[in-house]
Amino acid sequence: MPGDKSISHRAIMLGALAVGETRISGLLEGEDVLATAAAMRAMGASVERVGDGEWRVHGVGVGSLLQPQTALDMGNSGTSTRLLMGLVASHPITASFIGDASLSGRPMGRVIEPLSKMGAEFTASPGGTLPLMLRGASPAVPITYRLPVASAQVKSAVLLAGLNTPGTTTVIEPVPTRDHSERMLAGFGAQLSVEQGVDGARVISLSGEAELSPQDITVPGDPSSAAFFIVAALIVPGSEIAIENVGLNPTRAGLIEVLRQMGGSIEEVDRREVGGEPVADLVVRHSPLKGIEVDPALAPSMIDEFPALFVAASLAEGRTVTSGLEELRVKESDRLAAMASALTMAGARVTEHADGLTIEGIGGETLPGGFGTIATQLDHRIAMSMAVAGLVSREGIELDDTRPIVTSFPAFEAMLDGLAQGELAQDGLAQDERAQ
Ligand code: S3P
Repeated sequence: MPGDKSISHRAIMLGALAVGETRISGLLEGEDVLATAAAMRAMGASVERVGDGEWRVHGVGVGSLLQPQTALDMGNSGTSTRLLMGLVASHPITASFIGDASLSGRPMGRVIEPLSKMGAEFTASPGGTLPLMLRGASPAVPITYRLPVASAQVKSAVLLAGLNTPGTTTVIEPVPTRDHSERMLAGFGAQLSVEQGVDGARVISLSGEAELSPQDITVPGDPSSAAFFIVAALIVPGSEIAIENVGLNPTRAGLIEVLRQMGGSIEEVDRREVGGEPVADLVVRHSPLKGIEVDPALAPSMIDEFPALFVAASLAEGRTVTSGLEELRVKESDRLAAMASALTMAGARVTEHADGLTIEGIGGETLPGGFGTIATQLDHRIAMSMAVAGLVSREGIELDDTRPIVTSFPAFEAMLDGLAQGELAQDGLAQDERAQ
């Protein structure tokens, strides 16, 4: 699996704030991460590719980001935008953020609100969207902020702003979200503590005016990219695939739990630690799946995996009910509406609700397909999920635009194609034979 997108963004950002050389291997070279790299260069860091997934970052030091000379183009990437807004918010610089049509429709108010409390000033487009201009505060004011939405991006924006803020910045997280920022901040030497609050919430405190030391980082494989192949193997009869290098941070592993509850055979092999994160290889076998009611408490740990889960549910026996997924409406597309429409066009039986989908699985049959071209709506995960659905479709599935896939998984099409032809399996076998 290619490098984890969330971790790749953070490795570049923190490397750019450390003094000295950070070496990164396994970096995801998708467009979203390249947007982060370009922005950090525009603010003074040196961020260079030295080989396949091998990067070197020479940082400027916390507090020393430079004024970018042109607007920061965030492309399709919400993570780049929201985390970089946090960084800029506590530096004495002004930056404009622009992005594509999908990103320009996504809510930024959720980061504008806490960062304004820290002293940053914003001029945003109507509805609190991009394009926007941000004038950082110097010095910024430390805050204690309780997250109103379960969002790792908002948490990370406030913590990153806290790096160059005097005193202690605290984020209270009632529902745990991915913790890569906390892990990596501690790894770079920031003073950060995580405690349990009286109401069970996570209380994350960061000491400001931090000094970060450069690190050697190996980025683990992305579980959100693995999700498409896990689902593909489960639903295509006769499949058995090994997926190497899958990050299994518990704040990201919800899909595997849910698919196992549905009857999926997913085996973990060689559990190990890579870059301070749990990783394993997965062996996934075709399995008859049953519909279930998905526990909404698992949503944050699989928030990007619902499009893939909806495909699995469409092929399962019986009904799958999901709820508590309002956040999916503000991702790269409205993923509840986009997947309801795409799967319906593929011949699945889907009902859309305000906060989830109910899917009557077709249980072992193939999807009819062939009802027209599916709109991927500048959303890589809609494109990849529906490509997987195409594997179990009689007439095939046609997508209007597969270009968004390069934002997170440039090798996806070649890998899926190779796997569908059995080539990867044969390659793997040949390698095993050579090894013996
Ligand atoms: C991410 C957090 C999640 C996720 C996104 C990546 C991150 O977004 O959907 O793909 O790297 O922090 P939210 O914070 O909006 O839930």
